[in-house]
Amino acid sequence: MPDYRLGFESLRHELHDPDLPVQGDWPDWLTGTLFRNGPAQFEVGEEEYAHWFDGHAMLHAFRMDGGTVGYRNRFVQSQSRTEALQDGRIVRSEFATDPCMSIFGRVMSTFNPQPTDNASINVARLDDQYVALTATPLPVAFDPETLETAGVVEYADDVAADMSTPHPHVEPGTGRLLTQMLSFGRQCQYKIGAIPPDSRTRELLATLSVDRPSYMHSFGMTEHYVVLSEWPLTVNPLDLLLRGKPFIENFEWRPEGGTRFRVLRKRDGAEVATLAADPAFGFHHVNAFERDGAVVCDIVTYPDASIIDDLYLDRLRSDDPTPGTGHLRRYTLPLDGGAASSRVLGDEQIELPRIHEAAAVARPYEYVYGIGTRQEGQFSDQLVKMGVPDGMTQTWHEPGTHPGEPVFVPHPEGTAEDDGVVLSVVLDPAGEESFLLLLDADSFTERARATVPHPIPFGFHGQFFE
Ligand SMILES: [Fe+2]
Repeated sequence: MPDYRLGFESLRHELHDPDLPVQGDWPDWLTGTLFRNGPAQFEVGEEEYAHWFDGHAMLHAFRMDGGTVGYRNRFVQSQSRTEALQDGRIVRSEFATDPCMSIFGRVMSTFNPQPTDNASINVARLDDQYVALTATPLPVAFDPETLETAGVVEYADDVAADMSTPHPHVEPGTGRLLTQMLSFGRQCQYKIGAIPPDSRTRELLATLSVDRPSYMHSFGMTEHYVVLSEWPLTVNPLDLLLRGKPFIENFEWRPEGGTRFRVLRKRDGAEVATLAADPAFGFHHVNAFERDGAVVCDIVTYPDASIIDDLYLDRLRSDDPTPGTGHLRRYTLPLDGGAASSRVLGDEQIELPRIHEAAAVARPYEYVYGIGTRQEGQFSDQLVKMGVPDGMTQTWHEPGTHPGEPVFVPHPEGTAEDDGVVLSVVLDPAGEESFLLLLDADSFTERARATVPHPIPFGFHGQFFE
């Protein structure tokens, strides 16, 4: 029976079609390329990756010009993939897959670490390069025309980091890329780095020592501050050395510790506020801004970290899948300390949240776009546009189809925050294909679609570049 599970099957086919069939009215003004990233190969030889986050990265490029849409897809030729294909087995450890089964192999891999460069999560501009990103500090450069892999970009600094968020922020005004890192060691450290435009140097803005680091996928940024959300999913770094489990399985859910928000001032790295909140978990900060002596921080949250378990491939391919969506929660973090307060915005579930970055980052704002859940037992079966803070929603859905992360692209002469279009790669299992959907962002209704002649596995994130 064709269903969304096709989105968790490997796609080995690479193709280039300069002129996809388009239905509807593709806007003439929309010139640029939507790059999408996500896993596309979930097994090597007889071995299977365990988790949605583990599969080999594939880039997809949708090039738009004068009302036409071209498409190309290509695997990221990471060392992780290259070594795996050469050996016919999984070689490097991924988020939830660990090939080092023996003590010997484990110790060797600890002292001769080969962190994964399987950059499957996001896409960014770094210096003069287009890069694919994952949660290790190994951005992989690619050619924006051909999608050919150019190799890992070396930073021009000596910052030690083992983890690096795949969700850096572009700072309004300066264009700096702000990133959050984590280094493991006798003393673990969170680090905030700023990479100036046209640079590969991470200038350290803040460093915080931590005994049991929290698993954090993204962070918040306002005009003057950055916000770390320390969910109570934490690790004893020694366990990473000794326990021999896949990376994420060393983290423990300790709700008694609650969530801790740490507000750091960009100017001098000072921790200006530390705030306690109820236990929760989240992957995605949506936006944050300063108001009335507080930082307002919107995050898609879950009651606990079981969402990570729900995203193992065997669960996703089972008859009892996760909806894969959480709730948009607004935290208010007083800068004079005390406790954080929070409330859920709206009733709709949401994930892979996006905003009108150029207009809304680090400011009070009006709209969040994301994937959603319309029907229990489905995976991402609608797109959601949610008003903030009122939680009013508009939705798009088409029975039997499954949309991916919606990317907002503003109209060049637009004034309203939602004057533009929303682009989403939608899986059509019955047709064994995908299509790039284009919604008018204001009305949240379809304006056009361009059909791709193969099914694109569910991906994570993408960016539109002119
Ligand atoms: Fe993400």
